[in-house]
Amino acid sequence: MSSFEPFVMERMMSKFEQSVDYNLSESGVHPMLLSELFADDPGFIEELLATDINYPHVNGIPELRENISRLYEGANPENVLVTVGAIEANYLTVRTLLSAGDEIVIMSPNYMQIWGIAKNHGLNIKTFNLREENGWTPDLEELESIVTPETKMIAVCNPNNPTGRATTLEEIDRIVAIAEKVGAWILADEVYAGAERETDEQTPSFYGLYDRVIAMGSMSKAYGLPGLRIGWAAGPEKTLDDMWARHEYIALSATMLSNKLAALALSPGVRPRIIARTRKYIRDGFPVLKEWMDSHEGVFKIVPPDAAAIAFARYDLDINSTEFVTRLMNEKSVLIVPGDHFGLDNFVRISFGLPHDYLNAALNRIHDLIMEIKGKSATA
Ligand SMILES: Cc1ncc(COP(=O)(O)O)c(C=O)c1O
Repeated sequence: MSSFEPFVMERMMSKFEQSVDYNLSESGVHPMLLSELFADDPGFIEELLATDINYPHVNGIPELRENISRLYEGANPENVLVTVGAIEANYLTVRTLLSAGDEIVIMSPNYMQIWGIAKNHGLNIKTFNLREENGWTPDLEELESIVTPETKMIAVCNPNNPTGRATTLEEIDRIVAIAEKVGAWILADEVYAGAERETDEQTPSFYGLYDRVIAMGSMSKAYGLPGLRIGWAAGPEKTLDDMWARHEYIALSATMLSNKLAALALSPGVRPRIIARTRKYIRDGFPVLKEWMDSHEGVFKIVPPDAAAIAFARYDLDINSTEFVTRLMNEKSVLIVPGDHFGLDNFVRISFGLPHDYLNAALNRIHDLIMEIKGKSATA
């Protein structure tokens, strides 16, 4: 068997998220019901019933690609490839544009998929950091100093998982300039764009700022529809065609029904309602989590996230993050994500875009464990 680095966070989530009493490990908001999606157009069900359960267009049905292309200035449907989640789009981007030995520079901390793919396929990995002490601002001096003519790709996650930090326009321009200087591709994972906490302005995309940008989006986070398993890549037509050829080996296509439901969700008449729903969950949920953290004086330190339904909190407890999360799962049946999964111990990632009774009940159980840990360390 070839050597293989598992995707540790997804391994943990896929094994345990369905069996715990409270799942606070997800980064999106509470998922939508199908009936909520149909609320403006109950007749849509008739259209679905008349659907041929055939293969859809392998690169995404035209209506869906049209609706996605409208999200990017200057894009048309040929600039969009629909994939099975953004996870496939990320995979295809790296595997199409890079080969073993190529250098990739990855924003850190990050959803560790790109890092794992890079490891498993023999890429040379460098990282540049978001600095907690500066409110998770990306260290662009560092980026500038490590990018060389050998750099083939810079991978960013904006807004960022796990910190929720959204890159400013000035930072975006600077990252583009650094990439352009050496002709490196930019992989911009933008699955949380639309899930802003404090502003109704969508986080700007890297798309179109430079001719070597692939931007990723998804129905999973900003739209609360992860079960559709629809994501996409937006970029130059020729590169997308090369990615499409690989998509034929891996997934062939997403499903016909998912293509149709995603097209409905992204239609101009429905999309604003879904985005508003997501933002409401985020805006209502964060104060609950923040208040709970504040009530544990001296335990948590947090930079409030700009976007996404997750908070990445530093904690001051005498326990390693994986051990903390394992105990929480085994003893309290609550799942959160340890900072170890992002290479940062003494942090936890907790989701908050959830109904309040569910969120509060889960936080109460985390509180119980914190009290037990504190009690134990006090007597140790
Ligand atoms: C940054 C980031 N990219 C991609 C994904 C995968 O998303 P999808 O459900 O669209 O495959 C996730 C899921 O958590 C994510 O956090």
